[in-house]
Order: sequence, then structure tokens, then C-alpha cells
Amino acid sequence: MNTQTGTDINQAVDFLKSGAVIGIPTETVYGLAGNAFNEDAVLKIFEAKNRPHFDPLIVHTDSLEKIALFTENIPEPALKLFQNYAPGPLTLLLKKNNLIPDIVTSGLDRVAVRIPAHPLTLQLLRQLSFPLAAPSANPFGYISPTTAGHVYEQLKGKIPYILDGGACNIGVESTIAGIEEDRIKIYRPGGITAEALKTFDEYIEGPVKNETGVHTPGHLKSHYAPHKKFIAGHIPELIKTCSFKMAGILSFSENYLKAFPEIKAKQWILSPQGDINEAAVNLFNYMHLLDQSAADLILAEWVPDKGLGSAINNRLEKAAGKWQ
Ligand code: TXA
Ligand code: MG
Repeated sequence: MNTQTGTDINQAVDFLKSGAVIGIPTETVYGLAGNAFNEDAVLKIFEAKNRPHFDPLIVHTDSLEKIALFTENIPEPALKLFQNYAPGPLTLLLKKNNLIPDIVTSGLDRVAVRIPAHPLTLQLLRQLSFPLAAPSANPFGYISPTTAGHVYEQLKGKIPYILDGGACNIGVESTIAGIEEDRIKIYRPGGITAEALKTFDEYIEGPVKNETGVHTPGHLKSHYAPHKKFIAGHIPELIKTCSFKMAGILSFSENYLKAFPEIKAKQWILSPQGDINEAAVNLFNYMHLLDQSAADLILAEWVPDKGLGSAINNRLEKAAGKWQ
């Protein structure tokens, strides 16, 4: 299959109406989208990503009115959250009705829903009479894509079209939350910070750490992972204790090449000024670059655990999970 990249919304609409799956931009990461009401289209998403069917998909649409069409009653705290953060990087688990095929939710009775804040994708969603099921547009377990080029590199030949909306301006996935007994619970840290959600009276806990429960988002120990060996920790210590021919260093703001001039290394600094939002924007792109570089071992450091820092550290922990 020939994979085209472009900015033509009409072409994207035609592909989606015909049941094809395409790459779409969002403010967090690129998604691999298909008609969420069409089981065949949804199957194609799992196939293109090589994703196991037990891992459910997020459904994207452009308004609360449309969400109401395929969910049961939306609880008050969820309405309040959407009023504050939609469109935006917030996904809520809501009780689904039978317009959503079971395969979308892996048989669970709640569907994950979000309204993405990307102008091109909002325009696209407005033209569709169905919502879009869309996981991140990476092969299962690999680094998430934050540019159309990343999607092309990983999925070329498997999908007909990638809608190019430029680089994602948040850079980490949405926060996933659910309402349990009228209280807000975070399941995956992401683009809306825990600090922001804590300002709501209904907030109870999160992010939930659960490596064994199958139904917690991102529950798999390894995720977002480069092909190369990836270790997260304190870089000066890792440099001393790990063996490598050439290290790939992913630092937050520090320049370790200056501190350790004697080692052979390539380095990417997430934010030389120490800006956590800039670090999130650069995270997955730099992980892609490190994976393509001449380094034989990637060493990453934790970032300050504030704001988007919790989501970044969660992704670093999962990326390193394969090697522990
Ligand atoms: O920012 C994002 O959320 C991006 C963009 C494309 O919207 N999407 C994304 O999708 O990150 P994905 O599939 O890579 O991650 C979604 C996570 C998975 O860990 C999945 O298990 C969980 O959400 N999930 C989806 N539906 C669920 C449901 N009904 N119940 C529990 N977890 C769910
Ligand atoms: Mg993903």
C-alpha cells in the first residue's frame, strides 16, 4: 500500500468514510484513526499496530453532544472536567452504549473518550458522523510519534494516508481519568497535570500504580520503548557503572558531555532552560533520534516530578521496563 502524507482534510474524510485507517495529528501524540462504530475499521487499527485485542482504544470526537450519543449518562464530575479541559489532553472513562463495538473497549463496559485540541483534527471530526477510535500511531510497545514523519517511518505501507498537522505541541499522551462513586481518579498521568485535577473537590487519587491489573491504562511494564537498551536513573552514576561503546544520553537540562569529556557519547538535552513543558514536547522525538543514533546504550535521567514531569517520568520508567 502506498502511504501519502498531506494536509487534505477532504481526502482524510473520504478514507475514513470508506473504512480505512489513517494517521491524524493531536496536541499530544499522533493517532491511528478509524471509524469507532465500524468493527472492521477498528480491527484494521489493531492489525496495523500489531496491538493485542485486550488493550482498548480511546474514542475521539469534537463535542459533548456527540459524546452523549454513544455513552450512558455522563456523571456530574465528568461534565465539569470536560467543561474545563475539552478540547484538551484529558480522556475520561464513561459507560458506553451499544453503538461502540465491544472490540473498542476490549469488552469493558466503559469507553475512553476525549476531544483533542488540534485545529485540523477538530475540523476533520466535525465533518464526520462517527467518532474516531485512535490509539497512538506507533507499533505496539514502541516510542510514540509526535510528527507525521515518525508515523510514516513506523507505519508506511500499512496505511493509505497521514494527515500532517505539524509537531505535537504537548508531546505526551492525554491524562486518563475515571469517575468512581462521584470521585475523580487518575489512571495514566498525561497532558492535564495532577496538580490541576487536585483543585477539584471530587479528586481522590492518582495516578494509580497497578502493574498487574489488566484494565489499568498503560498497565504493561514495557511501553514507549526504543529498540536499543534504555536505562533511566542518575546519569553520572550510570556513566560510571554501565558498559557501552557509545552512550546516548537523554538529559533534562544538564550538559553531561561537558562534565564527562572523556566518554564517547551523543547527547540530547530535553530543555537547556529546565522548562518541563518544553521537555515534554521534545521527549519522544529525542527518543526516536537516540534510537537511530550510533549509540549502543541509552541513558536517561528523571526530570523534576512536577507538572508534566510526572507524565515524562512515567514514560521513561515504562521505556526502561523492558530492560529490568
Ligand atoms: O493522547 C492520547 O491519549 C493519544 C492520542 C492519539 O489521543 N492516544 C493514546 O492511546 O495514547 P493509546 O492507545 O496509546 O493509549 C490509551 C491507553 C491504553 O493504555 C489503554 O489500555 C487505555 O488507554 N484504555 C483505552 N480504553 C480504555 C478503557 N475503556 N478502559 C481502561 N483503559 C482504557
Ligand atoms: Mg500508546
